Amino acid sequence: MTRFPTNRLRRLRYHATLREMLAETHLSRNDFIAPLFVREGRGVRREIPSMPGQFQHSVDTAMETVRRWSDKGLRAVLLFGIPDVKDAVGSGAWDDGAAVQRLAGQIRRDLPGVLVVTDVCLCEYTDHGHCGTLIERRDGRRDVDNDATLESLARTAVSHARCGADVVAPSAMMDGQVGAIRQALDAEGFRTTCILSYAVKFASSMYGPFRDAAESPPQFGDRRTYQMDYRAAGQAVPEAAADLDEGADILMVKPAATYLDVIAAVKARFDAPLAAYHVSGEFASIKAAARAGWLDERAAAIEVTAAIKRAGADLIITYFAESLADWLEE
Ligand code: PBG
Ligand code: ZN
Repeated sequence: MTRFPTNRLRRLRYHATLREMLAETHLSRNDFIAPLFVREGRGVRREIPSMPGQFQHSVDTAMETVRRWSDKGLRAVLLFGIPDVKDAVGSGAWDDGAAVQRLAGQIRRDLPGVLVVTDVCLCEYTDHGHCGTLIERRDGRRDVDNDATLESLARTAVSHARCGADVVAPSAMMDGQVGAIRQALDAEGFRTTCILSYAVKFASSMYGPFRDAAESPPQFGDRRTYQMDYRAAGQAVPEAAADLDEGADILMVKPAATYLDVIAAVKARFDAPLAAYHVSGEFASIKAAARAGWLDERAAAIEVTAAIKRAGADLIITYFAESLADWLEE
């Protein structure tokens, strides 16, 4: 290998055109999935204080938003529902008349080019805010009952598929959830409905703003008996392997920006398409710093999103999707 001064690595960076030509990571509108929060009512457009520029919508105003996103070249949305009434098991999740189901149907009908992805979980629909049905453990603590929850998740996924979801995305971190959903979908004839599995999902402080947005904070305890411990990244490969074995079509790592090592490890190990979720707290951090004048929002958002792609993500779920679509045009 030649050495300085014969070798000068800066020569590769001298001309802007050569820098462009040598860029290995390129962002595209095809990479993004835009999350959307939908609730009951009409004409609702309520900004989420901890997520500037993100809104809770009713179905009608959500449709306007999806149409605008589609016009800007975005391809896919990820729907989250906020019910008016919650109960112990989260039965609103599998109501064919609920907001997510109605919105999914309307998008499929009116904007058939848009891919409808639905989050399949129960925390928005349970009055205790946990991701499933509760059970009392031997030590007296309450915890989510894995196997009882599988049935609820399967019913929810079938309801979403029946109403218009193209892709269902189970996020409850119950063991066996992908298998239970695949079996239920197939039994109901939804063989082409895709499963995007939140396979590698860590218990994270970065979900704080989302829980405001979805009105889903746990009313006691936390989610550490089901979501992964961020100190135990070695569990990522077994989690992903289990979900693929159960029929996951696409894997996900979540959060994204502080888990690039995990994204790279999962990508290296499995051939399945890989998504990464740049979560609410990661979004809010950039927004807050930009608002304070401490960094350039556009440059920071593009850099972080490119880093997630560079690490190995094929798809990026991001609240910056609309902004990125605007910025990439220029
Ligand atoms: C529901 C769910 C959560 C997120 C996606 N699906 C919240 C949680 O697990 O507490 C977080 C998304 C975000 O923070 O942007 N299980
Ligand atoms: Zn949940």
